[in-house]
Amino acid sequence: MCGIVGYIGHREAYPIILKGLKRLEYRGYDSAGIALYDGKDIKLSKTKGKVVDLEAKLEKEISTDGNLGIGHTRWATHGVPNDVNSHPHYSNSGNLVIIHNGIIENYESLKTELKKRGYTFQSDTDTEVLINLIEDVMKNDGLKLGKAVQIALNQVVGAYAIAVFDKNKPNEIVVAKLGSPLAIGIGGDEFFIASDASPFIEYTKNAIYLEDEEMAIIRRGKDLKIRKIKDDSLVDPYVQELQLNLEQIEKGGFDHFMLKEIYEQPNAIRDTYRGRMLVNEGIIKLAGVEDNMKKFLNADRIIIVACGTSWHAGLVAEYIFEDLARIPVEVEYASEFRYRNPVITEKDIVISISQSGETADTLAAIKLAKSKGAFVFGICNVVGSSIARETNAGAYTHAGPEIGVASTKAFTTQITILTLIALRLARAKGTISSSDYRLHLLELEMIPDKVKKVLESEAHIKSIAEIYKNTRNFLYLGRGYNFPVALEGALKLKEISYIHAEGYPAAEMKHGPIALIDENMPIIVIATKYGHYEKVVSNIQEIRSRKGKIIGVVTQGDVNVKELADHVIEVPETLESLSPLLTTIPLQLLSYHIAVMLGKNVDQPRNLAKSVTVE
Ligand code: F6R
Repeated sequence: MCGIVGYIGHREAYPIILKGLKRLEYRGYDSAGIALYDGKDIKLSKTKGKVVDLEAKLEKEISTDGNLGIGHTRWATHGVPNDVNSHPHYSNSGNLVIIHNGIIENYESLKTELKKRGYTFQSDTDTEVLINLIEDVMKNDGLKLGKAVQIALNQVVGAYAIAVFDKNKPNEIVVAKLGSPLAIGIGGDEFFIASDASPFIEYTKNAIYLEDEEMAIIRRGKDLKIRKIKDDSLVDPYVQELQLNLEQIEKGGFDHFMLKEIYEQPNAIRDTYRGRMLVNEGIIKLAGVEDNMKKFLNADRIIIVACGTSWHAGLVAEYIFEDLARIPVEVEYASEFRYRNPVITEKDIVISISQSGETADTLAAIKLAKSKGAFVFGICNVVGSSIARETNAGAYTHAGPEIGVASTKAFTTQITILTLIALRLARAKGTISSSDYRLHLLELEMIPDKVKKVLESEAHIKSIAEIYKNTRNFLYLGRGYNFPVALEGALKLKEISYIHAEGYPAAEMKHGPIALIDENMPIIVIATKYGHYEKVVSNIQEIRSRKGKIIGVVTQGDVNVKELADHVIEVPETLESLSPLLTTIPLQLLSYHIAVMLGKNVDQPRNLAKSVTVE
């Protein structure tokens, strides 16, 4: 989704904004632009395409001087991706300029009103409507920028993170947030604005994350004032010290962020359970669960809400919660849940899962569940994100920044934390024996080393990718705990290589997908030792009789599948409930290598965004 960056201070704004936009590329976008103020005039350049295209164009078009500026990467919603629809946008007078992440839902009616008052519009965007609405308020009521922004935003329905400045007030940037993230970095006498902290991490570790319905007036060399947009009350700024460092957001010698993040999984999984699982003592402690243990133990059911890969992690959790803790679980697409008038009671616990913590549908599902009295527990990766703040309690995955658009370490760390919760509840409810509980802890502790072992198969997986890279369709099959892994494997391939892939429970194959199987169809079958192995082997036989190409993901030492399959990829033995943490790794690597061989943009696949802040 759109990314925003801004700077006001003593340094040249352009290099800071340009580098910041590059850091936000992972969010997904189709055009980019920058506006700078050089002490006399606003200079603006924007283009369809990537930040490098903007850089080439901008440096020919305008001088890059100025200590104040704003920049934007746009992910098109209203209006096709083109130069005109790109941000920043001017107001009609040319005095005001804005960047915006989000959607103004009532922009059509506002636009009609503004047109009646003589305003004209260059672009098809909702953002240009907003900047002219601000201008209109300023003109009619003789107000300063900050006040006009506030009044205009009170007329707006939708979501936004905006930054605006006025040519006549060049020592000030006004920012505001509702539904889309906005961080303000605070240096000595300078301020940075961005969708997340990555654009300013090398300049300051101090940041304020605006809350929904807050705005800030930021003055060069002075202070910043935060106000509530609705009632104008002043808010005490809460300055956080960022834990992020530069190394975490750079590629560190890998060709792509995705590959780096695949390789980070052993450490990421360890970081997720570190300090929370004490194997020798047999203890799992998660503050968010301990503090609300009564609620968890009395819950009638758990409803998991999430989107995409996080939804797949939720499906794995359904198996593990029901299996170990004997709590009924329903797993819902947040986007469906929020609109289908679901039955939710005060005895339900809703667990929301989100890497970014900003997914609009998941956020809305949480708000709905809370309004019906349910207790909402959030699992997020991004600290301080909207979902982390909106939920009643929660646990961070501690996976570190995930920059590749395709989720990898987010998935395995989400499964890790969900496993810890299930084990803790199972222990408290007495639904797991001491020996089984202990075995789970011991096995979970060994998972990072076993993931490392799977990563050693990369060259072999690459050779399989070479054989199948030009295939147009793939099937992924798995049963039980590995059915969600089949879905996740298919999603990974689709999103980065644009090859059509479908995931199915292996036994469902007979009810339709089997018709697709012929000698041209590669089928990835997850056949772990303890996962209904014989049943899966007979599914493999059915595929073989129809000449499908079989790529088996099997437990080390397997003999049966080896005989039937065209290729096998081995993973170390573990408990079936933990096997998704291993079986998912080869599927990530396979997708990665196919996409690289096809020359696709692995880290920023077309049309996709890292945090989906619009519904
Ligand atoms: C797939 C992927 C998406 C996200 C989905 C939810 O690789 O990354 O499917 O999983 O957009 O995002 P979060 O977890 O940030 O809520």
